Amino acid sequence: MSAFWFRAKSFIQFYLNADTKYQLHSPFVFELAETVLEDKRWYYAFRDIERIRAQMLASNVGIEIRDYGTGQDRIEMLSKLVKRSSSSVKQGRMLFRLANLFQPANMLELGSSAGIGTMYLKAGSLHSQLLSLEGSEKLAELARINLEIAGLENGTEVLAGAFEKTLLPALRSLQNLDFVFVDGNHQMEATLQYFEQCLSFAHEKTVFVFDDMHWSTDMKKAWSKIQAHDKISLTVDFYELSLAFIDPAFKQKQHFRIVPSFWKIWKVF
Ligand SMILES: C[S@@+](CC[C@H](N)C(=O)[O-])C[C@H]1O[C@@H](n2cnc3c(N)ncnc32)[C@H](O)[C@@H]1O
Repeated sequence: MSAFWFRAKSFIQFYLNADTKYQLHSPFVFELAETVLEDKRWYYAFRDIERIRAQMLASNVGIEIRDYGTGQDRIEMLSKLVKRSSSSVKQGRMLFRLANLFQPANMLELGSSAGIGTMYLKAGSLHSQLLSLEGSEKLAELARINLEIAGLENGTEVLAGAFEKTLLPALRSLQNLDFVFVDGNHQMEATLQYFEQCLSFAHEKTVFVFDDMHWSTDMKKAWSKIQAHDKISLTVDFYELSLAFIDPAFKQKQHFRIVPSFWKIWKVF
């Protein structure tokens, strides 16, 4: 099956099995759904970040990137790269609202790319320390420049190097791992390895956010394994972003798939 049809099928399956906030009994999950999916508030940061994205999309320069699939360096058009690999506007706003809701003291991002997700995370919680890891030197540099243009550089660091080398020292350098956004190297083994490493530095309230868990069979398997993990007590899947929690206060392990209420308007009644 082509990637397009795989993702279309994956989305339809998700949609058919999803609830809206009106079917939720947990106040915590209800608040999450309200905040992440239903909050319509607009912030100036959205405009500023999207202006930076628009400039990159309009640019005709090439940028050297490391392809972690092949291990080779290659030049890609910046506009193409941003279109292909950056968080979408919708995901960006979800990241902003998540950071804004949890107000984590420390955040970690795996995969900065051009810094779109990094900027949304930081803008959502300005007091947070944010460490973002990126394998390509040139992309790390670009993300730093974009953070500076957006005025979001204070308390934000972009570290260049393969996760295999940078993740462990990064985790050791953080006082607490309050929030982690895993958005790089979309392969099952790697995702699970990063998850396990982060888990050993996590505390009860750590928020785990994953991107692209419905992207491929491999990533779907990774998500099932994360959901089944002994330490996981709750997962909340918004399709574009998937969240996992280890807080033992969630006594009975539960998994939620949630869509905005207007997508299933009949479920309001
Ligand atoms: C999907 S992009 C990140 C998008 C970004 N988080 C956003 O929200 O716009 C994934 C990034 O992870 C980086 N990456 C992939 N595998 C990596 C690895 N093993 N070590 C370091 N960086 C890696 C890639 O270079 C790429 O820039």
